[in-house]
Order: sequence, then C-alpha cells, then structure tokens
Amino acid sequence: MLRVNVVTLFPELFTAALGSSIVGRAVAAGLVRFRIVQLRDYTHDKHHTVDDAPYGGGAGMVLKPEPFFEAVEDLKATPPIVVLSARGQLFTHQLAVRYSLGSELTLLCGHYKDIDNRVVDGLGAEEVSIGDFVLTGGEPAALCVVDAVVRLLPGALGDHESASSDSHYEGLLAPPSYTRPPSYRGLEVPDVLLSGDHDRIAAWRAAEAERLTRERRPDIWKKLDA
Ligand SMILES: C[S@@+](CC[C@H](N)C(=O)[O-])C[C@H]1O[C@@H](n2cnc3c(N)ncnc32)[C@H](O)[C@@H]1O
Repeated sequence: MLRVNVVTLFPELFTAALGSSIVGRAVAAGLVRFRIVQLRDYTHDKHHTVDDAPYGGGAGMVLKPEPFFEAVEDLKATPPIVVLSARGQLFTHQLAVRYSLGSELTLLCGHYKDIDNRVVDGLGAEEVSIGDFVLTGGEPAALCVVDAVVRLLPGALGDHESASSDSHYEGLLAPPSYTRPPSYRGLEVPDVLLSGDHDRIAAWRAAEAERLTRERRPDIWKKLDA
C-alpha cells in the first residue's frame, strides 16, 4: 500500500477527486491511503497565520516554514517529500514510476507568492513542477501527481485500461484511437483498423506512434533515437 500525505490550505479540493474514478477505486481496494492535512492546524497563534511578508520586500505573501516542518514531523513522513513548485524539475512518467514504487509520498502545496525556501532545504524536499506555467496553488499539481502515480500501482487499472499502451509508457506518444461508428459526418476510421488483420493493425499503430512523436515531440524523439 502506498501512503500519500498532502499538506494544503485547501483540503476540500481533494475530497471529490480522491474519492472518484480510478483513484477512488484504488482507495477502496486498499492500494493507496491518503492523509490530507490542513496547514493551518500547525499554527499556534489565534489567527492561524501561515504567511508573512517577504524578506527583502516585494509583492505577495510567503508561506512560513514552521507549519510545514511541524506537519511533516507530525505525519512522520519519510522521503520523498515533494514541494509542488513552478521552479521544480518537470514531472514526467519516469518520476511517476519512481513515486509509485515507493511506500510513501508526501506532497506540500504552496500558495500566494511562494513558500519559504527553508522548507525545501530543511526537509530535503524535491521541487516538482507540472509544467511551464504558474498555478494559483499547488493543489491542482498535487492532484495531477497523485493521479499519475496511483494509476501505475499494480491492480489500480483493469486489464482493459492497461497503462502499458499509453503515451510515455514506452517512451513514444500513443497512436490515435477510434470506436464505432466507422463513418461519422464524413470522417472515416482508417481502413486498417477495420481489417481484422492484427499484424497490420500493430504495424499501423507503431508507425503512427513514431510519426506523432517525431512531429509533436522532437525532444522525446531525439532522446529515443540517441
Ligand atoms: C502563485 S504560485 C507561486 C509562483 C512562484 N512565485 C514562482 O514564480 O515560481 C503559488 C503556488 O502554486 C504552486 N504552483 C504554481 N505553479 C506550479 C507548477 N507549474 N507546478 C507545480 N506547482 C505550481 C506552487 O506550490 C506555488 O508555491
């Protein structure tokens, strides 16, 4: 069982997402357990203050270090401890695989201008970004990480949903998919997929996966080629 801890100012954002679909089924099957904790519970003043003005000046508020340290200590969290951050390393399938192979994963969500950098330094945390854009808070990023990790846990997906034919699993993008009807508004399903010839279908899918990766993700194609 994978234990996932999330430290956040908005625990309610996780309720529906973690109770639904494949992640919800994985919880019910005992493959993953979530502990979602409120950062404000680790403050000690009457206003439950989690932020303060940045040293050196500038706009925005910075999340204080103490509540994050106390939350992580209270959870007795073991590595990896991940701070969701736009300046982090890019979240990839490889990282999802690494997290899915561990026994525990702790995700710390930022908000406002930033998180005090001593959280990363002092907790030995990894900074992870889900893309080159800025979100309002780490919660949507944490949900992306959780979803990508949980679907890789053995037993999370049924056979018909197998992850092994998805984009990035073997490096390439996945080929396009079609279902009935064979013709819709003048748009036709490629003949080969209707042929029943499994060798030709496999060859077509492989060629499409290669073509799409080469065209859309030359960065990935270059790495695979090397
Ligand atoms: C408004 S953002 C702060 C952005 C920060 N000032 C910067 O320029 O990198 C607030 C929080 O959203 C989360 N966040 C924003 N963009 C993210 C991304 N691309 N990936 C992961 N988390 C992100 C982080 O937890 C961050 O602390």
